Amino acid sequence: MYEGKAKQIYSTDDPNQVLMKYKDEATAFDGLKKGIIENKGIVNNRVSNLLMGLLEKEGIETHLVRQIDERNVLVKNLRIIPVEVVVRNLIAGSLAKRVGKEEGMPLPATIIELYYKNDELHDPMINEYHARVLGWATDEQLKEMHSQAERINEILKKFFDSIGIILVDFKLEFGLYQGRVILGDEISPDTCRLWDKESLEKLDKDRFRRDLGKEAEAYQEVVRRIETAVAAVNG
Ligand code: TMP
Repeated sequence: MYEGKAKQIYSTDDPNQVLMKYKDEATAFDGLKKGIIENKGIVNNRVSNLLMGLLEKEGIETHLVRQIDERNVLVKNLRIIPVEVVVRNLIAGSLAKRVGKEEGMPLPATIIELYYKNDELHDPMINEYHARVLGWATDEQLKEMHSQAERINEILKKFFDSIGIILVDFKLEFGLYQGRVILGDEISPDTCRLWDKESLEKLDKDRFRRDLGKEAEAYQEVVRRIETAVAAVNG
């Protein structure tokens, strides 16, 4: 049905569900930089499904139906809202550049930003007026996205802290399903900044974006810690 930079979407017999396949291809700067992170697709599929499972347990509805195999997951067929939600706990990345502050500075409260999901335009930052007036999301949907993003942040921040990782920032995508706004896309080292609590080592896609090396190892370390924690909880 659709091929994106990191995933492919296939239709299924059920119009309410689609199959999402994770690829190893990595891009940065809107596809300008291309590469492969070995087994990234396998790690991101696992990480995203485990984290969404965790969120479901806390009462957040996600698109997750069930993992099919290493690279494939069955998900609800959402109509994606073209507004990306970025949640920030520390200053990093584009925010550090925009406000001229050093990366790693803690923020006294969470910052939530909106971006228009449009590759040709390089996902420009927008505000709620743009989203509402240009018809990308209703006021009600934006409120729902904000409140879910805040809750997801609280749950994930605490979880990552328990496995020795600082959740610096991350990006979420929401979609409409049977009239409800629910979480879609993925939550993975591709879409989060994850720093080791002790060494502050980057365990995410910034290793690729910034040519730091050892990206496959970093992704493996994240999935290893998450699987260990989830296995402990499930006995
Ligand atoms: P930024 O600091 O580059 O704006 O990124 C903020 C967060 O969003 C970071 O955790 C990485 C994630 N992100 C994506 O998932 N996709 C993207 O295309 C970009 C630019 C960032």
